[in-house]
Amino acid sequence: MAINERFLDELNARCDIVDIVSRYVSLKKSGSNYFGLCPFHNEKTASFSVAPDKQIYYCFGCGAGGGPIRFIMNVEGLEFQDAVRYLAKEYNMTVPESEGNPQVRHQRERTLELLKESARFFYAQLHSPIGAQALAYFQSRRLSKKTMNNFGLGFAPDSFHALLDAMTAKGYSKQELEQAGLIAKGKNGTYYDKFRNRVIFPIIDIRGDVIGFGGRVMDDSKPKYLNSPETAVFNKRRNLFAMNVAKKTKSEYFLLAEGYMDVIALHQAGFDCAVASLGTSLTDEQARLLSRHTKTVIVCYDADTAGQSASQRAIDILKKAGLRVKILRIPGAKDPDEFIKAKGPEAFRKLIERSDNDIRYRIETVRDKYDFTEDEQRILFLREAADIIAALESSVEQDVYTVSTAKLAGVTAAAFAQEVKQAQKRRTRQAKRQLHREVRAPAQAAQPKTRAIHYDNMKSARAEEGILSLLFADASLMEEMREYLKPQDFSSPELGKIYGYASALYNSGRNITVSALEGILEPAELELLVSAVQTQIPADTRHKAMEDYIRIISEQKLSRNSSADPEEDPLLRKAQMQRKSKGFDAGT
Ligand code: CTP
Ligand code: MN
Repeated sequence: MAINERFLDELNARCDIVDIVSRYVSLKKSGSNYFGLCPFHNEKTASFSVAPDKQIYYCFGCGAGGGPIRFIMNVEGLEFQDAVRYLAKEYNMTVPESEGNPQVRHQRERTLELLKESARFFYAQLHSPIGAQALAYFQSRRLSKKTMNNFGLGFAPDSFHALLDAMTAKGYSKQELEQAGLIAKGKNGTYYDKFRNRVIFPIIDIRGDVIGFGGRVMDDSKPKYLNSPETAVFNKRRNLFAMNVAKKTKSEYFLLAEGYMDVIALHQAGFDCAVASLGTSLTDEQARLLSRHTKTVIVCYDADTAGQSASQRAIDILKKAGLRVKILRIPGAKDPDEFIKAKGPEAFRKLIERSDNDIRYRIETVRDKYDFTEDEQRILFLREAADIIAALESSVEQDVYTVSTAKLAGVTAAAFAQEVKQAQKRRTRQAKRQLHREVRAPAQAAQPKTRAIHYDNMKSARAEEGILSLLFADASLMEEMREYLKPQDFSSPELGKIYGYASALYNSGRNITVSALEGILEPAELELLVSAVQTQIPADTRHKAMEDYIRIISEQKLSRNSSADPEEDPLLRKAQMQRKSKGFDAGT
């Protein structure tokens, strides 16, 4: 599946990052770099930079960074391979297709074409006299013309062969229609349309291709929805409804709803970051897809018990994908659609803001961990809940949750209030200590922007970042560097890994560039690298800087592992030599 390295190098050599980014961001030159407003987060001052010499972009605000391919992946919401194809097309290059045979590819394209034609057919039906009832249905659900068009909504007529006839007339075979999940074979061997007398919601993937349909009845009959089956192009686990629109949102969070109708109502109300899974519960793949586009997901499932237990599952899955999760409870309505209809978009925005500290939800989640028939466990619960409550800013809120939590665990409010007070004292002490640490060691505040990565040894990590910034500025330093420094000498496994890759590039005669690692590094690692190479070290001080960095890394390594034998370890040997030559060891 991997795309040929030589081809990637060639593509990267042709790409011009300034040119590519300019199509999305208006850039102004300042020094040797360009600056503009970051397309990945909302901002008023330009902290998004593009460096043509290194062919990278980096946002000093949100930490987003990478090369041309990563930029296209993020801005267009594409997977690596698709971003490569996208750029290749721009630069008139052909991606060497090692994967799949041409026959399969051709079939896939035919199916997508057929689905697009079918969507057009359903759309035309909705706006023809046959679709009058369907149109009235959408209107009764308060969808505007614009919304209907944005989502390409349609209508499947009450006929066993309307679509079948229309598509065979366009040259598609019954077999192709069947493979696309549009028709099925009856008992008597004749084919019939699957979607009949239903309003149609096209399911569009992130690239904008129609991959399937959901069809809803216009009354209370069952089944309420009929969805396309899984086909060669329709994978329910990997796609999300409305992701093709939501991927372009400027919002910092995504809204995850249960129903197609909820998502559509949310978009119409101005929440262009709403998505839903496809008639099944949320999957790991969908959570990972979300995590490539946002750091925060607000779950706004239906208010009923089914919706609430589905939330719990969704929360776990989202957290596993590294996402920050918030829960939105919908008061007095069954789902977001109904709520917005009754109370309006502004009221919904307030719910979003309130979803921020859903304390009750967190306390209930903690409660579920413990068995209340055991006194011991009840005490543990109360202690943990006290920590949550102690963190609340408002004393009124603290009071409210103290009372309700005490009740939950069957203790008096007064006793539990004592526990909360203790927790608060602990917090204050901790905060003081933290402040003290930050003042003494400002490096503490310079952890990577990417939350996924944490430096254990700031001092060493700084030097390790320095090593990378040197290498990516001047690869020839690798010759001397690799004599002493191995990836495992790095205190940060991520920085060590990048160093290892850089050294492999060097060994195989390729250039050490950020672009060359775009397909290999995890997004967080790539951001780390891009942020590290922001440090500019003047050419005439590079060698000296390298020596300094190596010394710091070796000292830190020694302090971690004091039993290491300097004679056996080139890095430590070098450090020893350096110290001697500078007279550090004089007199011993
Ligand atoms: N669903 C499904 N098949 C069903 C019922 C539901 O695939 N028989 C899926 C659909 O993706 C649907 C989602 O589950 O969008 C949520 O169901 P529901 O809340 O019943 O549907 P809504 O889209 O919210 O529709 P409405 O507001 O019209 O009830
Ligand atoms: Mn619903």
